[in-house]
Amino acid sequence: MVRRLQLFEFTDLPRCPETVRRLVTDYLRFVLRLLRLDGPMASLLLGLIRHTGADRLVDLCSGASGPILPILRRLQREGVSVHVLLTDRFPNLPAFALAARQAPGAVDYVPEPIDATCVPAELAGIRTLFEGLHHFPPAQARAILADATRCGAPIAVFEVTARSLLPILGSFLLIPMVFLITPFIRPLTWWRLVLTYLLPVAPLVIFWDALVSSLRSYTVAELRALTEGLPGPPYLWEVGQVRHLGLPVTYLLGRPAT
Ligand SMILES: C[S@@+](CC[C@H](N)C(=O)[O-])C[C@H]1O[C@@H](n2cnc3c(N)ncnc32)[C@H](O)[C@@H]1O
Repeated sequence: MVRRLQLFEFTDLPRCPETVRRLVTDYLRFVLRLLRLDGPMASLLLGLIRHTGADRLVDLCSGASGPILPILRRLQREGVSVHVLLTDRFPNLPAFALAARQAPGAVDYVPEPIDATCVPAELAGIRTLFEGLHHFPPAQARAILADATRCGAPIAVFEVTARSLLPILGSFLLIPMVFLITPFIRPLTWWRLVLTYLLPVAPLVIFWDALVSSLRSYTVAELRALTEGLPGPPYLWEVGQVRHLGLPVTYLLGRPAT
């Protein structure tokens, strides 16, 4: 296990050009779906939905919508229909609108910036974060959990990066992989092609953000420590890791105890 390093990711920077941010978040949505990581996430979410009776997911740090659509489909197959609200501090409006068109009536989005550490109380429902929590240093990650517990909102956090040697070394493979998979990423825009094959911005930015994501991922023990002494009503926390295709999916699920 490597020491946690709070380096920067391009997608965190307020000055990161929108085009570059979309290179990363569209890629991430594609890869999460390709690897079918929605499977274990949907199973874990299903338990939380059934325990809480919630009918809405308020997705924080949504990026390009991540694994939300395949998760919705899996939930629907289990007879559970929930409404999803996509949010982000830097909303990717074309991706949000596309997700809303692909799941009419089931997916909606907030076009204004929503900061995950301070979610408006009227956005009630289970708060979800897919590949989001590692972006925040411990004090802010705790603030996200505290904001949820203060409002009595259930929360589900999923991370597919891990701070161990294999994922860290694996980030280097992403450079050739981005060259290979780019033609399959949607939307396939001329700027994505230019910023991949003429100027290799996409491979380098995706490599860097993936490397940093691994280096600042939280372990199960660290996630558990973040849940201690939070304000609000008593909570039941479930923290763990499952494996899918050899990849770790670390999760933290929380809900009011009563
Ligand atoms: C790695 S992307 C994850 C995207 C998506 N959840 C997925 O699974 O593909 C992280 C997202 O967090 C957003 N973000 C960064 N800081 C944020 C904050 N303080 N509040 C809300 N979103 C934030 C970024 O804009 C980016 O879209």
